[in-house]
Amino acid sequence: MYLPLLTLLFVLVSASPHVPLVDQTASDRTFDSRVPVQLGVMSKCPDALLCESTFNEVLGKVGDKMDLSLVYVAKFDESEPDFGGIICKHGAEECAGNVQQLCIAKYASPDQWWNFVQCQNFEGTAQIGKPSVALKCAEAAQIDWNASGAGQCAGEDGSGKEDEGVDLLRKSVRLAHDLEVTKSCTIIINSRRVCVHDGTWKECEGGHTVNDFVRQINDEYDRLNSFRG
Ligand SMILES: *[C@@H]1O[C@H](CO)[C@@H](O)[C@H](O)[C@H]1NC(C)=O
Repeated sequence: MYLPLLTLLFVLVSASPHVPLVDQTASDRTFDSRVPVQLGVMSKCPDALLCESTFNEVLGKVGDKMDLSLVYVAKFDESEPDFGGIICKHGAEECAGNVQQLCIAKYASPDQWWNFVQCQNFEGTAQIGKPSVALKCAEAAQIDWNASGAGQCAGEDGSGKEDEGVDLLRKSVRLAHDLEVTKSCTIIINSRRVCVHDGTWKECEGGHTVNDFVRQINDEYDRLNSFRG
């Protein structure tokens, strides 16, 4: 009476798929969820440069666990004709710098994008947004300005005034509004605002050193991928 049932049970148990114990190494991080990290910035803002330089070091330590992006803080003002009704705090050249960075983010690799931003920053806040600097930094980051698509997006002359790039800027500024990011620089790790640098570090409950950000990203990474046991 019980035999067929026991047999069936045995068959089911032995047929159940063997679940391998995954040895978590860097190489299988490809399958993991990376931690989204956003920096709310303005391209010509000294606070943004400071955050970006801090995150250059963070990337060196946990770059393979995170997806970094920049979100641009600016104001909507429909009377501004050149940048689709966007006013940038540090002037039109800042809007141009934002557009150049957004277009590079869209049309180049993440590494090239980051090298491009670092190159502009290295030139200094007074230079960021200038067409000649954008073209020079694209070359330094090994991006073909025209062939990559970045040129059509941000203007082949580097002006940052082409429709596609201006549209990316409007969307990014809208996102910053939606995230209630008003200060450059605001650091958001996995949708949580963890720190602001506005003249000085502010509201940084978990700390503001490179290692503090690394720790918070590691913690979020482990939480996001905890199904692996
Ligand atoms: C991109 O194309 C424009 C228009 O054809 C040209 O004037 C410019 O020199 C090119 N720029 C680069 C960096 O290749």
